[in-house]
Amino acid sequence: MEAAPLLEALRIVKNYPGVLALDKVDFSLERGEIHALLGENGAGKSTLVKILTGAEQPDEGEVLIDGGVVDVSTPRKAQENGVAAIYQEVGLELVPQLSVGENIFLGREPKRWPARIDWSALYSRAEELLQRLEFDPEFLREPVANLGLGKQQIVAVAKALSLNARIFIMDEPTASLNSHETENLFNTMRALSGTGVGIVYISHRLEEVLSCAHRVTVLRDGRMVGTVPVVTGVGPEGELTVEAQQSQLVRMMVGHDLAEKYPRSQATPGAPALGLETVSGAGGKFSDVTMTVHEGETVGVYGITGCGSRELARSLFGLEPIQSGKVTILGELKSVQSPRDAISAGIAFISDDRNRDGLIVGRSVRENITAPISKSLATFGVIRSKQEVAVSRKHVSDLNIRTPTIDQLVRNLSGGNQQKVVFAKWLSSQARVFLFNEPTRGIDVAAKVEIYRLISNLKSNGAAILIVSSELPEVLGVCDRVLVMRRGSIAMELDPRDTETTQAGVFDIASGG
Ligand SMILES: Nc1ncnc2c1ncn2[C@@H]1O[C@H](COP(=O)(O)OP(=O)(O)OP(=O)(O)O)[C@@H](O)[C@H]1O
Ligand SMILES: [Mg+2]
Repeated sequence: MEAAPLLEALRIVKNYPGVLALDKVDFSLERGEIHALLGENGAGKSTLVKILTGAEQPDEGEVLIDGGVVDVSTPRKAQENGVAAIYQEVGLELVPQLSVGENIFLGREPKRWPARIDWSALYSRAEELLQRLEFDPEFLREPVANLGLGKQQIVAVAKALSLNARIFIMDEPTASLNSHETENLFNTMRALSGTGVGIVYISHRLEEVLSCAHRVTVLRDGRMVGTVPVVTGVGPEGELTVEAQQSQLVRMMVGHDLAEKYPRSQATPGAPALGLETVSGAGGKFSDVTMTVHEGETVGVYGITGCGSRELARSLFGLEPIQSGKVTILGELKSVQSPRDAISAGIAFISDDRNRDGLIVGRSVRENITAPISKSLATFGVIRSKQEVAVSRKHVSDLNIRTPTIDQLVRNLSGGNQQKVVFAKWLSSQARVFLFNEPTRGIDVAAKVEIYRLISNLKSNGAAILIVSSELPEVLGVCDRVLVMRRGSIAMELDPRDTETTQAGVFDIASGG
């Protein structure tokens, strides 16, 4: 008889008011398997993860481990059953001031009688764990605060492993990681799976999924579309190219093929709309930046994490200080010291940091979308609210925002749909200069194309667009010009349509020197 799968979820149903988030979903995970969950924004991926990790309870269905029904109705029970959740924001579980080793065994430190921590045992056990994860033990005594997000996640994995976790659940763990950190995490995942652990992994990046998962399960509108093995390359299963398998997955997710991946309109650049002259700021995170973005032009700033591009975008929106240099917006010299200044100068800021910069999650979709215009709409209450409804409905439909009504609280939307609300909000403003910081983080493949189309329409309508992104294909696919940023300065300007511009070449410039 075949052994039962490591983990099974059977006929899971989960309702939220107005939304059937999961409709009789079946899912299984084998020992040593990396199993990716794919689906559009709002498909139900995080909901399934929440049920497996005890953060939410299903209305119907069962969870089995090793063939037996288990109780995972609370996070603690899930943990006792060997299920570990690795969150994107690991900061919440780790104590920044404590070392890697201390964090792994926090509250469970090996003791030497009488009640003294046995530091050498602690560090040697921690080292052993890190080695199993192919993680450099040189960081063992380093405070967690000194590590980047990617390494912090691996520390969280080590901690879970020390608690005997056998099932790891990772919801978009790579969304905020750079390509190097992502590769490290994959090595860790491969090492883990080699020891028989099972991993459920969610990502919107198909290339990643195909490079590390063994099987893929696709959800659509809360239903299970199917589970397929990853079979790219030459093999006995038949020969599928990476592209062919990507298209297969996209069809399963979206229901049809995607049109052009990077729609890019032709526009003739007009007058300079945003000008920077030797601008420095954010406490030295970037310096001497000189650039111009014209009306009807899309300029990209690409750099690896920590290069200062994020701070540059935030400074132009008044979220970080500009310390020297000149900023000209729509022909006028401006001193932008707050978002209010930036908005009144005609700037919009679309950021991946939805909670801090973009949205009021305790308010409705409608209130968020119409926030920038609520003053400019007619002051008679009734007319205003009618217009608000109309504007909100239009954006919800244009951007395919999954929400039962425009009065739903933003907090209740899926991650990707929250990001679409950020877009809708700024599209309804009167801005002429659009700053985008990692605009498509967490956005599904189909919605990304919609967003690129919107950016291209903004450009055709004469907007000036600056996109800061660490997704190289996106920057090269969408922008008219690309500035490569390295250690706080612009290192080079490139034409993405130039055949000499290759991804590898740009990456070298960004990370080298
Ligand atoms: N607490 C809640 N209250 C109401 N609706 C909710 C709640 N949590 C999730 N939903 C809804 O359930 C559906 C599934 O959401 P879920 O977060 O699982 O999607 P997802 O596949 O993870 O999407 P994304 O890729 O955007 O993260 C969505 O329509 C979402 O709006
Ligand atoms: Mg999600």
